Order: sequence, then structure tokens, then C-alpha cells
Amino acid sequence: MRNSNKIAPSIMCAPMFELPKSVAEMEAFGIELIHIDIMDGSFVQNYTLGTNFVKELKGKTSIPLDIHLMIEDPESKLQWFEFGEGDYVSVHFEATRHLQKALAAIRAKGAKAMVAINPATPISSLDSVLDDIDAVLVMTVNPGFAGQKLVSSTLRKIKALREYLDNAGHEHIEIEVDGNVSFENAKLMHDAGANIFVCGTSSVYAKDTPVSENIKRFRDILNS
Ligand code: DX5
Ligand code: ZN
Repeated sequence: MRNSNKIAPSIMCAPMFELPKSVAEMEAFGIELIHIDIMDGSFVQNYTLGTNFVKELKGKTSIPLDIHLMIEDPESKLQWFEFGEGDYVSVHFEATRHLQKALAAIRAKGAKAMVAINPATPISSLDSVLDDIDAVLVMTVNPGFAGQKLVSSTLRKIKALREYLDNAGHEHIEIEVDGNVSFENAKLMHDAGANIFVCGTSSVYAKDTPVSENIKRFRDILNS
């Protein structure tokens, strides 16, 4: 049986001065996860949201958080972030020399542990941590900036990853996609085996159409 579909709007793409309204909208529309991009200006060339933001948001919504750590040495900084039961936390394969340790620390707090892999990182990188993860975050653009174009080879990667996980007896491990998850690409990603969708400027926060309409359109595509 397939893992259930989850929509994870990327809060860095929501209108910054209307965040309470954006969170209320997500609650009203039954959003499953709130994706939070944490960037350190080193692992990726950008800065976005941080520890205080996560703490504040955690106190203000019951929607589970999906914390995407694009930071170096995440294992030494995990304790700065507030998360627990039901939340998802991802660390990048490319950013740590202690991947298993970082994943175990996430699970120790009751959260779902995920490895994020960049477009050029092979699926085989996951071999040694399959027992330590609940999901894989497949970057479908190079991390760092919203508004980029899909790296097309990642569609084949999602399909190959789903087969790899199923063949290894890990059907329960979920696949999240992040980067240019447009309405059109979402259909292809879903058909390839992804079930968690990070929605930013390409869909839910696309200009000119209301968020409510975008969420409905996105769900209809996943259900079609
Ligand atoms: C990068 C970010 C972006 C973004 C997604 O790490 O996670 O991928 O929020 O939104 P768009 O649709 O702009 O790629
Ligand atoms: Zn992200």
C-alpha cells in the first residue's frame, strides 16, 4: 500500500508579513506538514529561518513541522531546535560526517528522521542508514533558493528510489520532494513514487491565484 500523500507548504515562500494568516489558512485546509527551510550561509549560500522561528511556530500551531536543515554539522546543532513527536526533521547527507548519529538523535526526540539528498548524490548513499530513517527528502533542485527550475534527472531518481526502498523491504519509508514542485511536476513526481510534496512559489504560493485555490488544485492533482 502507498504511503499517504502529504502537502507541506514551504513557509519561507509565504508572505512574510502575513504569517499568522498563512498558518490559519493551512489549518483551515487540512495541511499535513509545514516545511521550514533552515539555511546557514555555508552549506548553502543563503540565510532563511532559524531556531527562534521554529520555537515560535511550534507554540502557535498543531500542524506537525517538517524542518529541513541545510546546515553544516547538524548533529552538533540539533539541540537548538524545538521538535518532537510527529514532526519530521531532515539532515543532508552531504553536510555531516556523522549521519547515523544525527538521525538517531532526531528519533531520540520522537520525531521522524529523514536524510536529504542533493540532485548529484546517489541513492546508494542511503545503504547504511535504511534502518535509521522514516523518509528520504529528494532535492529536485539544488538547495538554497526558491524559484529554481527542476533538475530533470531527479524524476528518474524518485522512481529508482521507490523501487530500491520497496525491494529492500522498506515500503514504509516515505519520499519527499522539494524544489519546483509545480502542479505539472507534482503529477510526475507522484507517479514516480513521491508522497510528501514541498509546495513553494511553484504552486501553493504562486502569484496571482489565492492560496485556497492552489491547495485545492494541488490535492485534486494528487487524487487524479
Ligand atoms: C529550497 C527550498 C525551495 C522552496 C520550494 O531548499 O525548499 O525549494 O521552498 O519552492 P519553489 O516552488 O520555489 O521551488
Ligand atoms: Zn526545503
